[in-house]
Amino acid sequence: MASTIAILGGTGPEGKGLALRLAMAGETPIIGSRDSGRGSTVAEELSQTAPGIVINGSDNHGAVSAADVIFLAFPYEGQRSVLEDLASDLKGKIVVSVIAPMKFERGKGASAVEVVAGSAGEEAQEMLPESLVVAAFQNVSAEELLNPDTIMQGDVVVCSDHPTAKKLVMDMADKINDLRGVDGGSLANCKYVEQITPLLVNINRIYKTHASIKIVGIDQ
Ligand SMILES: NC(=O)c1ccc[n+]([C@@H]2O[C@H](COP(=O)([O-])OP(=O)(O)OC[C@H]3O[C@@H](n4cnc5c(N)ncnc54)[C@H](OP(=O)(O)O)[C@@H]3O)[C@@H](O)[C@H]2O)c1
Repeated sequence: MASTIAILGGTGPEGKGLALRLAMAGETPIIGSRDSGRGSTVAEELSQTAPGIVINGSDNHGAVSAADVIFLAFPYEGQRSVLEDLASDLKGKIVVSVIAPMKFERGKGASAVEVVAGSAGEEAQEMLPESLVVAAFQNVSAEELLNPDTIMQGDVVVCSDHPTAKKLVMDMADKINDLRGVDGGSLANCKYVEQITPLLVNINRIYKTHASIKIVGIDQ
């Protein structure tokens, strides 16, 4: 992997977990935040959580300009404003959406939020026609990622209309022990992946765990 990775919204649990695991796999990710001080503080703290890793911090703009693979790891509610703000800086770059649009209702648990474009990933691609959008990692638990001693279990279904970018993200997933990148086909398929996440959240509440998904029957 010769890419520089930035993680927007990397101050939250999912972004921090991905930054930690990618750093453990040999990358030097940049935590992006709407506040540069917060990005730097979180990066410094996270760099102490595993030996020999380097994680840098910045504001979202600085992180995007320094990277060629940019993860979107903020809540769906922030997508439109963040992407409108950064669209020109994201041109030509690989944009990895880990976003699972979700809401919580008292007594009902988690459910998927309807997205007019079909999914958060498709909406991102519509908003960023000159970027290579890949959707991945939406089903991977932040709690598991954040414990460097936990061996990850499960598959990362990767969807995109850009084959080279998709392969690069599948390879990134493979470098996180013991995740496996699975080719999920075109970006249109990411709606199904995003909607598994509220199901997992509800299963987690029942079983008091951090469940993930595994695709069986493929020879890899
Ligand atoms: N948590 C999980 O286990 C998990 C698992 C799979 C997928 N995901 C997905 O990963 C994404 C991040 O999850 P999370 O739990 O880490 O989220 P989070 O803690 O709610 O937010 C992450 C970061 O996003 C930024 N942010 C918050 N609201 C924003 C807004 N309206 N506009 C722009 N930036 C905003 C904040 O960073 P700054 O204030 O520093 O900018 C925040 O620290 C979500 O889309 C979620 O669906 C989460």
